[in-house]
Amino acid sequence: MASARLPDGTEVPALGQGTWRMGERGADRRAEAAALRLGLDLGMTLIDTAEMYAEGGAEEVVAEAIAGRREEVFLVSKVYPQNAGGRRLDAACERSLKRLRVDTIDLYLLHWRGNIPLADTAEGFERMRGAGKIRRWGVSNLDVDDLEELGAALADCAADQVLYSLENRGIEHDLLPFCRGRKMPVMAYSPVGQGGALLRHPALRAVAARHGGATPAQVAIAWTLRAPGVVSIPKASDPKHVRLNAAARDLRLTDADLAELDAAFPPPKRKQRLAML
Ligand SMILES: NC(=O)c1ccc[n+]([C@@H]2O[C@H](COP(=O)([O-])OP(=O)(O)OC[C@H]3O[C@@H](n4cnc5c(N)ncnc54)[C@H](OP(=O)(O)O)[C@@H]3O)[C@@H](O)[C@H]2O)c1
Repeated sequence: MASARLPDGTEVPALGQGTWRMGERGADRRAEAAALRLGLDLGMTLIDTAEMYAEGGAEEVVAEAIAGRREEVFLVSKVYPQNAGGRRLDAACERSLKRLRVDTIDLYLLHWRGNIPLADTAEGFERMRGAGKIRRWGVSNLDVDDLEELGAALADCAADQVLYSLENRGIEHDLLPFCRGRKMPVMAYSPVGQGGALLRHPALRAVAARHGGATPAQVAIAWTLRAPGVVSIPKASDPKHVRLNAAARDLRLTDADLAELDAAFPPPKRKQRLAML
């Protein structure tokens, strides 16, 4: 199975599972946890969540999904920017640990940049790491200039989670090479365009049609996985989607496929501001 290597040498699956929009409706929680468990069975053992998602509800769904299976899972959660420093960080992390029903989070990310200086956040993350509450830390929605601002602390940053899909290729110009140069994976969020217009695009449909029973979403996921140093985290509550997404790992896009996708979704020619959802 394809994997990505973190700066500390830890291997994580290149294809994981997102959880945004899970935990929002009590009636759906059992099915959402079952979808995540199916994903674990199929090897998508990296799970991405955040204190923001359903205001903790998604972390509770994750807890249900991983109960009794903690050792199999690489668990990623994120802290709100307004909580990313000082005592508020300790408290937010404790709340996440409690909701997730775990002793430690494998990778804890700053969700996006807020008003707290990045240096304070990095210092707080290191304190949480020293206390064993988190195993490593990273960031999300930070562009090259923000990462550079981390200075020496950048060496301890394990990942940058950013919007990356065929529709949003801006990071290929500078952020992706920057992270690769530091052996720091990029985690691609919304890789299937949130199930929207991307999946109806004629180019994806044409490429999918060339691969027998493949679907446009599988092409979109395989495309994010085509290059080293990228971890893709599609979210799926529908078990059919979970199975299709896991199978996307076996879809090998040809040079002709990639050329067709490049023509439909041109790579960036110049710096683009990092897009975020
Ligand atoms: N750091 C950040 O700021 C940030 C921002 C956005 C997202 N994220 C993370 O990245 C994860 C993924 O991004 P996302 O949830 O925004 O969007 P996404 O994964 O691109 O799309 C999820 C949507 O696509 C549908 N879908 C999934 N697999 C499919 C398939 N094979 N065929 C057709 N439709 C499919 C899902 O439907 P069903 O659920 O019905 O299966 C859901 O509606 C999030 O869940 C979250 O963990 C992080």
